Amino acid sequence: MTETSNIESILQEDRVFLPPENFSERVGGAYIDSMETYTKMYARSIDDPDGFWAEVADELDWFERWNTVSSGSFPDVKWFEGGKTNLCHNCIDRQINMGRGDATAIIWEGEPVGNSGSGEVRELTYHDLHTEVCRFANALKEQGVSKGDIVTIYMGMVPELAIATLACARIGAPHSVIFGGYSSQAIADRVNDANSSVVITCDGAWRRGNVVPLKDNVDAATELTDVIETVIVLKRCENEIAWVKGRDHWWHDICESQEEDCPCESMDAEDMLFLLYTSGSTGKPKGIIHTTGGYMVYTYLTSKWVFNLRPDKNQVYWCTADVGWITGHSYVIYGVLPNGVPTVMYEGAPNFPEPDRFWEIVERHKVTQFYTAPTAIRAFMKWGDEYPRKHDLDSLRVLGTVGEPINPEAWMWYREIIGGNNCPIVDTWWQTETGGHMLTPLPGATPTTPGSCTQPFFGIDAAIVTDDGIEVKTNSGGLLVIRKPWPSMLRGIYGDRERFIDTYFSRVNGMYLAGDSARRDSNENFWIMGRIDDVINVSGHRLGTMEVESSLVSHESVVEAAVVGVPHEIKGTGIAAFCTLANGFDPSEELKQSLLEHVGKEIGAIAKPDLLKFTDALPKTRSGKIMRRLLRDVAAGTDSNQDVTTLEDFTVLAKLRSDD
Ligand code: WTA
Repeated sequence: MTETSNIESILQEDRVFLPPENFSERVGGAYIDSMETYTKMYARSIDDPDGFWAEVADELDWFERWNTVSSGSFPDVKWFEGGKTNLCHNCIDRQINMGRGDATAIIWEGEPVGNSGSGEVRELTYHDLHTEVCRFANALKEQGVSKGDIVTIYMGMVPELAIATLACARIGAPHSVIFGGYSSQAIADRVNDANSSVVITCDGAWRRGNVVPLKDNVDAATELTDVIETVIVLKRCENEIAWVKGRDHWWHDICESQEEDCPCESMDAEDMLFLLYTSGSTGKPKGIIHTTGGYMVYTYLTSKWVFNLRPDKNQVYWCTADVGWITGHSYVIYGVLPNGVPTVMYEGAPNFPEPDRFWEIVERHKVTQFYTAPTAIRAFMKWGDEYPRKHDLDSLRVLGTVGEPINPEAWMWYREIIGGNNCPIVDTWWQTETGGHMLTPLPGATPTTPGSCTQPFFGIDAAIVTDDGIEVKTNSGGLLVIRKPWPSMLRGIYGDRERFIDTYFSRVNGMYLAGDSARRDSNENFWIMGRIDDVINVSGHRLGTMEVESSLVSHESVVEAAVVGVPHEIKGTGIAAFCTLANGFDPSEELKQSLLEHVGKEIGAIAKPDLLKFTDALPKTRSGKIMRRLLRDVAAGTDSNQDVTTLEDFTVLAKLRSDD
C-alpha cells in the first residue's frame, strides 16, 4: 500500500453536526432536505443514471436533443451524444429568455486603488453581460478566431476574464486559462502544448497595491515560443507596457465598433469547451480536456444542490477562487450563471487593505453562500477573530471549502466564527479532472463531521479499493476510485492519450484513479488522506514535485534536486527542496535566494520552496531511488527559519536506511 494510507494518520474525530433546523426556511427551500431523500435519489442516480441525468439536462436549453444520454465506457465516455447546445447561451441568453435580463449576473469587487479605501464595484446584469460578451465574441472572430481554435487567457480577476471565457464558449473556441501568478515560461509551455496563437491578457493586475505585470510576462513568453500571433490587452492598471504593432491590440479598440449581438455557435455535446493545465507526477503540466454538454449539466446541478442556489430569493453567491483554477471555472462562472444567482468576482487579496476585507464584502453584499479554501481559513484564524467579528455576517447560509483537506480546528472556526454555528459546511472533494464536486455534503441533508467530505454526489460511484479493485474494510486506507463514468469527467489529456490512460485508468482495472488515498468510516463518510503520487497541494494549488525539481536543476549551480511536501501552518503543505551543488558552487544565502528567484521565474511564485537545503548528496536506496520519506522527516523536523545554508549530511542516515 502507499505510504500515505498509513493507519497512524487516522484522525480521531466524531463530532457530528446536523443541518440547522431552520435551514430550509433560511435558504428559501432546501432542495435535498433529508438523508432519506438523499439515499433514495442516490440509489436511483446509480441504478438509472441515464434517466436521472436526462431530467437534469432537461432543465437547461438544447438546440437539438441528444440521442443517447451516456455511452461508452472508461476511458472513452460520451454524454448527451447527438445533443447540440451552447454553454454561454445557458449562462446568459437563457436567463434573459426567462425574464431575468435585468437581474444581476456578476458583482465585481475591484481592489482598492490609491488611497480610496474601498474598491471599485461593477454589477453586470444578464443584459449587460450579453452585450459585452457578444461584442468581444465578435471582436475575437474579427481577429480570426474560429470554432475549434484554442484561445489562451492570462488575466487578473476582472469581469473581462469572465467575459472572455464566455465569449470563447459562445463562438466554440476552447479556452485555456492560465493563472495570473504563472511565469512567462509557464505561459510559453502551455501555449506551445495547445498550439494557441491568440493570448488575451491585461496590462497588469492589482495585487496588494502593486501591479503584477501580466503583459510583460506575455511579451517575455513570446520570446520563448513562436506560436503567439495575436495579443489582446485589456487596460486595467494603466501601467507602462511595451507594444508590438500588428501583434498587440487593445481590448477596447477591437470591441469598439462591434455589433451587440453574436449568435451562439451550435456545439456538439462532446465538443471541447476548455483546456485547463494542471500538475501531475511528471514534469510537464497536462492539459485536461472538458467538453460541453456533460460539464454543463453536472456543474449546473452541483452548484444548485451543493450551495442550494435559488434565483429570486435574494441570494448572493461568492466563491473566492481565481478563474485560473478549475474551481473558478466551475463555481465562479459555468455552474453558477445558469442558476440565476449573482456570482461575486473578487480581484484582490484576502487581507488588503485590511485583514477584514472578505468579511466587509460579505456584509456589504449580503453574501448568502460563501466558498473558499482551507488555507484562507487558516490564515484568517491566525489574523484573529476581531476581523470577522467587526462585521455582520448574518446573511450567510452555506459555507463551502475546497482544494485540500481541512483540519478540524479550521473547520470548527469556520463554523463558529464565520457561520455563527448556523451554516452547514460543505467540504467538497473534487479535482480539475472531475470537473465538479464528487464527494460532498448536501447542506440541508447531510450530517457533517469536521475533516470529512462525507458522501458521494448523485451519480458518483466512489469507492476505496486495493490495486486489485477490491473494496477495503471500514477505516482502512486505500485508493480512491470512481467506478462509473459521470457527465463532467475529463475526456482526455490534450495531445497525450497514453498519459491519459496511464494516469487514470491503468493502475486499477476498469476504474478512474483519482490519485488520492482515502478511508471510509463506520458512517460511510469519506476522509481524504493525501495524494498517492508526487503531487503536493500547496495552499490548495496542485504542484508536481518533479516540476519544481526540474526547474531547480535547470539552474547552473544545481546538479540534483529533490522536492517533498512539508506540513505548513497556513499553506497546509509547504515545499521543501534539497539541492546538491555543482563543482565550483558553495552553499550561501545568496545562492539560495537566486534559486528561489529562479523557480519563481520558471514556474511562478507559488512554486518557490519554503525551505531550501543544500546537501552533499541525496539519500538513496541501493537501487538508486531517492528516499523521499526520509527527506520528508528531515524537512518536517527542521525549523524553516534556521540557517538554511547548512549542509545536510545524509550519509549516515542513508546508510542506516539503505534497505528501505
Ligand atoms: C485535493 C481542486 C481534501 C485532492 C478542486 C485532489 C481535496 C486535489 C479537497 C485536486 C477536499 C481537493 N478535501 N482534499 N475537499 N478538494 N482536494 O485539481 O488531493 O486543483 O486530488 O482541484 O486537491 O486539486 P485540483
